[in-house]
Amino acid sequence: MLTISDLHFSYGSVRALNGLTMEFKPGEITCVMGRNGVGKTTLMRTIMGNYRAAKGRIDLSGVDVTPMPAHRRAKTGLALVPQGRDIFPKLTVADNLRIGLEARTDKLRTIPDEIFQMFPILKKFANRMGGDLSGGQQQQLSIGRALAGDPKVLLLDEPTEGIQPNIIQEIGVVLRKLVTERKMTIVLVEQYLDFIKEFGSRFYIMNRGLVVANGACSELSDAHVSEHLSV
Ligand SMILES: Nc1ncnc2c1ncn2[C@@H]1O[C@H](COP(=O)(O)OP(=O)(O)OP(=O)(O)O)[C@@H](O)[C@H]1O
Ligand SMILES: [Mg+2]
Repeated sequence: MLTISDLHFSYGSVRALNGLTMEFKPGEITCVMGRNGVGKTTLMRTIMGNYRAAKGRIDLSGVDVTPMPAHRRAKTGLALVPQGRDIFPKLTVADNLRIGLEARTDKLRTIPDEIFQMFPILKKFANRMGGDLSGGQQQQLSIGRALAGDPKVLLLDEPTEGIQPNIIQEIGVVLRKLVTERKMTIVLVEQYLDFIKEFGSRFYIMNRGLVVANGACSELSDAHVSEHLSV
């Protein structure tokens, strides 16, 4: 279980997180929604430890990770698939995946076969440069790299952004498998409503760095959409 309480973060004078309290449960895909610029990416980076919260607390399975830098949070079980994917274009697919192994607490130095089972394209293109993959394949690589660290909590920041529909579907099926079979905690920042309705369990909607609505994805209404999501 991942919980955040009263989380604050500012970029200088720009207040991006204004006291967020949220709960993310194992075995569920919790969606974080909201218009552009409401603080979704800032929240993911603050949970991961790329940014230090100015105030508030982050707990992972009862451990207060707030004082930890990102690499220690990774070892504690957090992994982030960043917005824009951020794979290493000049490294091979296999080397990108090996970098993910560094977050593991066991001594495994080979890429687990289950990653290739989830994303067969990564096996086929293991020796290609990351930068030569399509956008959707790079997204799969980014997710595979995060999973190579054997996380308890997977944070994904808009994984469907700019990706072709068949790969979006494949990603959804993998995420569902991770929550049902491995009881992983998944935090999905997402703006694509159909994807949320198909794969999401619970949702939070953010505005100006605050939670303005939450509930079960099955209860997401047109009123939520018109009030908080449509542009
Ligand atoms: N490096 C930065 N320096 C200053 N302000 C920033 C920085 N990064 C983000 N911001 C501001 O913080 C706020 C939250 O940005 P953030 O990127 O977290 O939003 P987001 O919800 O992820 O948006 P999007 O949907 O476009 O990805 C915005 O007002 C943004 O302009
Ligand atoms: Mg963002």
